[in-house]
Amino acid sequence: MKALNPIVIAGQEVLPIVEGGKGVAVSNGLSSGSWAAAGGIGTFSGVNADSYDTAGHHIPQLYYGRTRKDRHEELVKYAIEGGITQARIAHETRGNNGRLHINILWEMGGAERVLEGIMDKCKGLIQGVTCGAGMPYRLAEIAAHYNIHYYPIISSGRAFRALWKRAYHKFAELLGGVVYEDPWLAGGHNGLSNSEDPRKPEDPYPRVVALRQVMNEAGLQNTPIIMAGGVWWLNEWDHWLDNPEIGPVAFQFGTRPLLTQESPISAAWK
Ligand SMILES: Cc1cc2nc3c(=O)[nH]c(=O)nc-3n(C[C@H](O)[C@H](O)[C@H](O)COP(=O)(O)O)c2cc1C
Repeated sequence: MKALNPIVIAGQEVLPIVEGGKGVAVSNGLSSGSWAAAGGIGTFSGVNADSYDTAGHHIPQLYYGRTRKDRHEELVKYAIEGGITQARIAHETRGNNGRLHINILWEMGGAERVLEGIMDKCKGLIQGVTCGAGMPYRLAEIAAHYNIHYYPIISSGRAFRALWKRAYHKFAELLGGVVYEDPWLAGGHNGLSNSEDPRKPEDPYPRVVALRQVMNEAGLQNTPIIMAGGVWWLNEWDHWLDNPEIGPVAFQFGTRPLLTQESPISAAWK
């Protein structure tokens, strides 16, 4: 296998391996901070993250409001407090190594308010935001407000082109990378468009080459693509490394880190 060399992401050298964000409360402060401590990019989920009381007990997210609006407000409050809690844990665990990202889902309830509420209290703790599940046109603008890098999660070059043309070209310098999440291979919820058949998986290689072409046309030759979905053993991805058709590349793991000691899921699930 080729040596896995650090690459420059958002102006800093890191190992090109990423723990993908996993909700709800599946990638957390400890898992993402530990990943970053080892020199990679850890991503904690900002989707209804867990918070704790002063005795360290998990606060159950129960809803008392009588109206939908009241309960929505409770959800946003829980999510902001949980995100801040996990960001602080991750920051302490990371010890200034690697990088820390927050993940949110664009279509989740209160997405913008939750992200902004967390970022308002986490200056200097979080270096990037990854976001998919929808077309997050406003992601770049929000990231620019906090001066952090942003990483859209897309499943085709076509989706990236639309985001770039409409919004991201105005914030090019803060685009840290583009996550290609393969719609057939990735764990979690996946973004198949109407033109793709869930029963007919396509090889990710030509799809990522097509994404790279779109990015090169936009002058993003040096911006890494983060390949997500079915990445298990990097030996199988040797031909992606140092390959001009792919360009700078990093690899995102979602399912595999579920089995680590730092992963918060139950032993039964593991
Ligand atoms: C249990 C689970 C939850 C996930 N939740 C999210 C999420 O909330 N947001 C997101 O962008 N991706 C989510 N993902 C996708 C991962 O971040 C990652 O891109 C994907 O799992 C990579 O594919 P792999 O599972 O084959 O490694 C989730 C994946 C899993 C397995």
